[in-house]
Amino acid sequence: MTTDTVPGDAAVAQHKMTTRNVNVYYGAKQAIKDVSIDIDMDNVTAFIGPSGCGKSTFLRTLNRMNDTVASARVTGEITLDGEDIYASSMDVVQLRARVGMVFQKPNPFPKSIYDNIAYGPRIHGLATSKADLDVIVESSLRRAGLWDEVKDRLRDSGTALSGGQQQRLCIGRAIAVEPEVILMDEPCSALDPIATAKIEELIHALRGRYAIVIVTHNMQQAARVSQRTAFFHLGDLVEYGVTTDIFTNPREERTKDYITGRYG
Ligand SMILES: Nc1ncnc2c1ncn2[C@@H]1O[C@H](COP(=O)(O)OP(=O)(O)O)[C@@H](O)[C@H]1O
Ligand SMILES: [Mg+2]
Repeated sequence: MTTDTVPGDAAVAQHKMTTRNVNVYYGAKQAIKDVSIDIDMDNVTAFIGPSGCGKSTFLRTLNRMNDTVASARVTGEITLDGEDIYASSMDVVQLRARVGMVFQKPNPFPKSIYDNIAYGPRIHGLATSKADLDVIVESSLRRAGLWDEVKDRLRDSGTALSGGQQQRLCIGRAIAVEPEVILMDEPCSALDPIATAKIEELIHALRGRYAIVIVTHNMQQAARVSQRTAFFHLGDLVEYGVTTDIFTNPREERTKDYITGRYG
């Protein structure tokens, strides 16, 4: 970074998440180098950059998904509502409910549509009765923009839905446990343009209710859905700022080269 202040929204009193001097190593190889950014409720944040630059690695530090990779080591500080998420007192299962994740390839459970949504609320004890659970399932599917398409077939398998519907089901599954942050790692890369447009509309609708971070290799998508963009290159955070600035008036040569398509 060339700025001496931490990028993010100075006007925001409390950032939803902060990252300070974050490094990630896979064995001896460093995949993320000294990254500090803030993530706020009101903005969708996009992570862009060429393949292999560390977008997924950095995204996964935000809910400790790298814990599941044996060779991965994370240093630096990451907070959620001011609390260090790497503290030994942090309950990782709870953290991953608060910071939900949607993956590149839709991965519904091989269960009914209803049970895909009900699974998390059941294990987290969010419903005390079947009626409660029904309410959570309906409201989660409504928020995920899927209710009208599936309300008459809740007992059908989630895996029988179209790819775009499966991805909205996975978003509904994340929503069902009342997350505060939703991380999406290239959520549209396996979808056709119509299904992609639905997910993008959904991201607009969810903005403000959840802090949303989306990794995308599609710059048009970043421009459409986000208000903040972080550009990564070879493990560095090259530039982070207001999305329209990044795309129309980048400060850094490397950003300029990327958005003008000089490298992939
Ligand atoms: N599980 C892993 N073990 C070892 N190296 C990894 C692992 N995952 C990613 N990497 C390496 O870390 C770097 C960043 O990868 P990644 O975060 O997947 O990038 P991106 O999502 O931007 O394509 C790449 O060099 C990649 O090969
Ligand atoms: Mg990736």
